[in-house]
Amino acid sequence: MIKIAVLVSGSGSNLQALMDANLSGQIVGVISNKPAAYALQRAQNANIATAVIEHKHYPTREFFDAAMHQQLLDWDVDLVILAGFMRILTPGFVAQWHGKMINIHPSLLPVYKGMHTHQRVLRTGDAYHGCTVHYVTAELDAGQALAQGVLRVHQHDDEDSLAKRVHVLEHLIYPQVAEWICNGTLVHTQQGVLYRGQPLTEPVQFTKI
Ligand code: GAR
Repeated sequence: MIKIAVLVSGSGSNLQALMDANLSGQIVGVISNKPAAYALQRAQNANIATAVIEHKHYPTREFFDAAMHQQLLDWDVDLVILAGFMRILTPGFVAQWHGKMINIHPSLLPVYKGMHTHQRVLRTGDAYHGCTVHYVTAELDAGQALAQGVLRVHQHDDEDSLAKRVHVLEHLIYPQVAEWICNGTLVHTQQGVLYRGQPLTEPVQFTKI
């Protein structure tokens, strides 16, 4: 059975969706860089081990990432899931988890990497918005996209309503992708990503208009 660690910084609604999904892998631990993250409470409620590794206690990003790496090794983790983890990871750490670490980002990557995605979508006047699950690479929000949830931006949408609507999609697609990895439907190989035995050329799309 695949052993999963989830890295969080905040509320942890995606962690909750992953815990509620009864994955065929096992979430063995949750790491937060923030001691007050509500996600920690969610993990404890589900009797999942937690670790607080505060970035501000480490002199450099490399030392912080080394501490996280050690915790992941201690838990014997196969898959790392970033769920609202708001720290930039060092290339060395990312390389150690190459093909074994995924993230969810609140935009239809490759557009709107980084922060404030809902605000930027509204400013541009885009008709569509959504979220992307992707492998993590050293370049921010740039690894191969595995799945996207797409919604139509409504005329009355503001940042809050968009954030809520994107969250609904996130809670749908993130557990789905995690399960595909756990049960071998989606595999990272030296030759590329295979989905149902075929090369994945485009992210699997989920639409919610
Ligand atoms: C989610 O919307 C996720 O896409 C975003 O943080 C939120 C965490 O919510 N992640 C990023 O912006 C990463 N670049 P949650 O703590 O309720 O799961």
